[in-house]
Amino acid sequence: MELATEHLERYRAIIPEWEAFLESLQHPLPTVLWTNTLRITPEELVAILREEGIAVTPLSWYPGAFRVQSEHPSPGTTWAYFAGLFHIQEEVSLLPPYLLQPKPNERILDLCAAPGNKTAQIAVMMENTGTVVANDHNRHRVGAIRAVVDRLGLINVSILVSDGTSFSPRNGTFDRVLVDVPCSCEGTSRKTPTVLAQCSLHFSERLAKRQLLLLKRAVEVCRPGGIIAYSTCTYAPEENEMVVDQVLRLFPEQLEILPITIPNFTFSPGLTAWQGHELNRNLRHTMRVYPHQNDTGGFYVALLRKRQ
Ligand SMILES: C[S@@+](CC[C@H](N)C(=O)[O-])C[C@H]1O[C@@H](n2cnc3c(N)ncnc32)[C@H](O)[C@@H]1O
Repeated sequence: MELATEHLERYRAIIPEWEAFLESLQHPLPTVLWTNTLRITPEELVAILREEGIAVTPLSWYPGAFRVQSEHPSPGTTWAYFAGLFHIQEEVSLLPPYLLQPKPNERILDLCAAPGNKTAQIAVMMENTGTVVANDHNRHRVGAIRAVVDRLGLINVSILVSDGTSFSPRNGTFDRVLVDVPCSCEGTSRKTPTVLAQCSLHFSERLAKRQLLLLKRAVEVCRPGGIIAYSTCTYAPEENEMVVDQVLRLFPEQLEILPITIPNFTFSPGLTAWQGHELNRNLRHTMRVYPHQNDTGGFYVALLRKRQ
């Protein structure tokens, strides 16, 4: 199917190696899966998958995660999948929990959690201890979180249905908060080619209003000294740096941007200016991921610390 790439022209000046970027969008996305280390070791998983006729190669940057070499048979149809020995998740979607670094026995909030991929990743990183509050405002999508939690055997996840923009402070404060906001999803076009047809500046600007309210509430319920990861799967600066810039203006004394480093993973710095807007200079420490850099989807992450 033809991709509606005209909309992406507005990013020509900021995306490095433009032709390689456009070319990468023509290829389907590799499947990635990660080991449920509550049940099995990565080595044991590789052996089981091999017996099922599935060859995998390790991701260079994320321990226990693998790229699938061929789609037949599909990993999601194997007994090992239904037994909860692994989870299938887009490679770039692994980034926010990896950067958030949840620790055992902490209290973590996943403010926009459905269908629960990152919730599950966080819960396993916490070794099934502490509490992950998985919140989403969409009652129908919350069932998917429950299914993932049950299949992987997670006992440290509490599911909540509420509007994250007014998430109640009565739920207490959190050591770390993930804000994986609803976005225009431009970066998912390798998986869903039709997505670009719905994108426009107007759409991004409308989403940005809700994204700012979600990030603002995340800051409010994070404990002093805690960490907040803000993420989208889109390229639009209006939904990325410009949202983070606004929250930095709202909490100038309380927030700092943490620099991001990931060995063996290529990415670009966040923008500090866009279409006449001068943005916080520290936004260069946030991360932009383009599909041709690591053969993935597109993504954005900002890591923030709330000062003591
Ligand atoms: C990008 S998806 C989250 C994906 C999820 N973190 C994962 O990794 O599986 C964004 C989610 O935000 C939810 N959402 C949108 N507006 C919300 C709001 N005001 N409060 C809470 N959740 C909201 C949507 O229902 C959707 O499930």
